Amino acid sequence: MSKNAISNSVIRRLPRYYRFLGDLEANGYVRISSRELAEKMGLTASQIRQDFNCFGEFGQQGYGYNVTGLRGEIGKILGLDKQTPMILLGAGNLGRALASHIDFRNRGFDLVGIFDANPDLVGMKIGELTVMDVSAIESFCSENKPTAAILCIPRESAEKEVEKLISYGIRAFWNFTHYDLRVTHKDVAVENVHLGDSLTTLSYCLNSSDEK
Ligand code: NAI
Repeated sequence: MSKNAISNSVIRRLPRYYRFLGDLEANGYVRISSRELAEKMGLTASQIRQDFNCFGEFGQQGYGYNVTGLRGEIGKILGLDKQTPMILLGAGNLGRALASHIDFRNRGFDLVGIFDANPDLVGMKIGELTVMDVSAIESFCSENKPTAAILCIPRESAEKEVEKLISYGIRAFWNFTHYDLRVTHKDVAVENVHLGDSLTTLSYCLNSSDEK
């Protein structure tokens, strides 16, 4: 089934399925029923069946799901069978933390370059990469053809940088800047991350359960 035909809400759940199925695989599971998977994930079996029915006949009545097969299929839908070259803008606190702790290769990306505008940070090693001056981005992009970028720069710099990056061939942004990336280019994908929103949701959950 084509990606376009899968609803956004199902796509949002796929990384979690992928992660759980990976854990099951690591623990020696060959197959699992929707009921058992639902119990482990805190979902309902019918939700899981509906979600998985979106992309094929993975379950068999009385057999359940083949863990490796299903994980592989979800991985393909998520594009994890590819390694998209990605660059990072901003080697400050957040950028360094992401570059050091995210397992890019298992998430469909290959972090190939890190750039910062602060000369004090240029030359610094982060893992296997050396921070480059932001002025080198254009030539780096024409040589290495990255198509995705992480934005860990101040919000004020984001708009200008985004337009440049698009002209250098970037088509996907993992955006931490709080700049609302209203990019009109229709081929550009954006994933905005606001950790504060997640914390606010925790506040809601805490306070709504207080009232029960
Ligand atoms: P930071 O000040 O430690 O790092 C920002 C880095 O960007 C600096 O090293 C600076 O030299 C560099 N920079 C500035 N303009 C640049 C440009 N045009 N090109 C390349 N590098 C440039 O800040 P921190 O704490 O790492 O935060 C980075 C951004 O992420 C900020 O916009 C912050 O508000 C945001 N943030 C977002 C979070 C979220 O959940 N979305 C959580 C934490 C921070």
